[in-house]
Amino acid sequence: EVVIQPVEVLAQLAANAIERVLQERPTPVLGLATGSSPLPIYDELARRHADRGLSFARARGFTLDEYVGLPADHPESYRSVIDRELVSRVDFAPGAVQGPDGAADDLRAACAAYEEAIAAAGGVELQILGIGTDGHIAFNEPGSSLASRTRIKTLTDQTRADNARFFDGDLEAVPRHCLTQGLGTIMSARHLVLIATGTGKAEAVHQLVEGPVSALWPATIMQHHPHATVLVDDAAASRL
Ligand code: GLP
Repeated sequence: EVVIQPVEVLAQLAANAIERVLQERPTPVLGLATGSSPLPIYDELARRHADRGLSFARARGFTLDEYVGLPADHPESYRSVIDRELVSRVDFAPGAVQGPDGAADDLRAACAAYEEAIAAAGGVELQILGIGTDGHIAFNEPGSSLASRTRIKTLTDQTRADNARFFDGDLEAVPRHCLTQGLGTIMSARHLVLIATGTGKAEAVHQLVEGPVSALWPATIMQHHPHATVLVDDAAASRL
């Protein structure tokens, strides 16, 4: 399903879907994404928490990905980002939100442990997603196996350049590797909610919705998901 609305409306729709999961599930499991695209959704959730006590106290959260080699308390680690943008603004229980451990000594073991943690929680009910300009989701860059699970990946030059803005524009400061949920991991979530805004995402959204399913545009695997919602503003929808 593709929904084309102004970003404020998209944030409301995503928050409504998350609120339903929080209310209906005894132990709600949310898949959380970093990046700028989901921020309006997190703002809306924080508002609902402040205004009328929408509670995350019973919920668990799993983030999509993490840089390798940044200490967890680095301000641009995805751990710090999700803490700042959502976790610290609502009432998750301590430790309820986890991410892959990019500072682990044994990165392969950290990936396997992360898959096990998600499975042990019963899997993700609703997964929030952004999309990269090259069609990546999480850090599954073009060429990623469509069945992949959490693993170590090398970031493309494009993604490192896109993300240098978070490191004071210093490309050298952007890590070269990451841990990321695989496309197969993401596809195991029961509902996928992708949000994309702005003309920079128009080509990726065009491929996602109308292109052939291909590892060259990793997000196209979502066409095979039984319950996927694509939330886009006019600009991101301009090539549909
Ligand atoms: C990063 C993240 C992705 C995110 C993408 C787009 O590479 N790993 O999860 O979807 O950037 O980010 P933004 O929403 O800021 O455009």
